[in-house]
Amino acid sequence: MNTALITGGSSGIGYGLSEKFASEGYRILWVSKPKEELAIAKKQIMADYPDLEIRTLTKDLSKEGSCKEVHEWANNIAPIDVLINNAGFGTYGFIKDCSIEKEVSMIQVNVKALYLLTRYFMGDMMKKDTGTIINISSNSSFETVPRMLTYSSTKAFVKHFSRGLNEELKMINSKVKVITICPAAVVDTNFKKEAKMERVKTFEGLAATSLKEVVADTWSAFEKGKSFQISGWKMRWLYKIYGFIPFSIKMKLTADETSEI
Ligand SMILES: NC(=O)c1ccc[n+]([C@@H]2O[C@H](COP(=O)([O-])OP(=O)(O)OC[C@H]3O[C@@H](n4cnc5c(N)ncnc54)[C@H](OP(=O)(O)O)[C@@H]3O)[C@@H](O)[C@H]2O)c1
Repeated sequence: MNTALITGGSSGIGYGLSEKFASEGYRILWVSKPKEELAIAKKQIMADYPDLEIRTLTKDLSKEGSCKEVHEWANNIAPIDVLINNAGFGTYGFIKDCSIEKEVSMIQVNVKALYLLTRYFMGDMMKKDTGTIINISSNSSFETVPRMLTYSSTKAFVKHFSRGLNEELKMINSKVKVITICPAAVVDTNFKKEAKMERVKTFEGLAATSLKEVVADTWSAFEKGKSFQISGWKMRWLYKIYGFIPFSIKMKLTADETSEI
């Protein structure tokens, strides 16, 4: 049986991907923050997929040492075939008003934990010369985003690091693969509530996408062995012209997108 480890698997994109991998017969390992929602989500997915083998670990990935503990825990269960670095959150507002503590915690989850888990599990995968790491970046990685400077910078790291790592693995003839997923604004997850962005235009904007589309795009990239996938068909079209738009105009457009309705 194949095993997928999904961080932040108990809600949003992570939950949607868990359902998809469960339906394909994978054993699922979840790592989420200590919360009662984790138990509720586990009950739900087990009701929908009665044959599913699922194991959960409550762990705050912003904490020192947490990724090592995740690695040890997972290795005691099964070799990991697919690692999905999905856990992450955003902060919103002009940087002068953002909490430094919250933003540092976000950097620890979105960047440091993703980096460490990738390093730990890619080592195991390289020994077997097989495995896939799916890293969830964002369309905010394409250019800096006013009112989401730190978040968009964390996602730029994810994109840069993951795409480059996949190239390095190819150069050394490794069969381990890294897939970078860049979803557009997803209207139906907890992200916007957690980031206090419920009234922000981008979620009702031209290029917004849905959880269903992100799950379908991610699965399709995985099945086809693609290394980079923008998720949301409208964003894929916009991206084709994005590089031709001058920086100052991009800033005006994104500043409008991140303003409140
Ligand atoms: N929604 C969007 O518009 C959008 C667009 C592009 C990319 N993304 C990215 O997609 C990923 C999933 O987001 P989502 O939209 O599905 O939002 P979500 O529903 O809020 O899911 C985020 C998940 O990350 C987990 N998480 C957050 N902080 C954590 C921590 N310190 N330790 C362990 N787990 C933690 C959460 O666990 P708890 O529930 O226990 O807190 C939750 O399961 C994120 O990386 C996000 O940046 C989202």
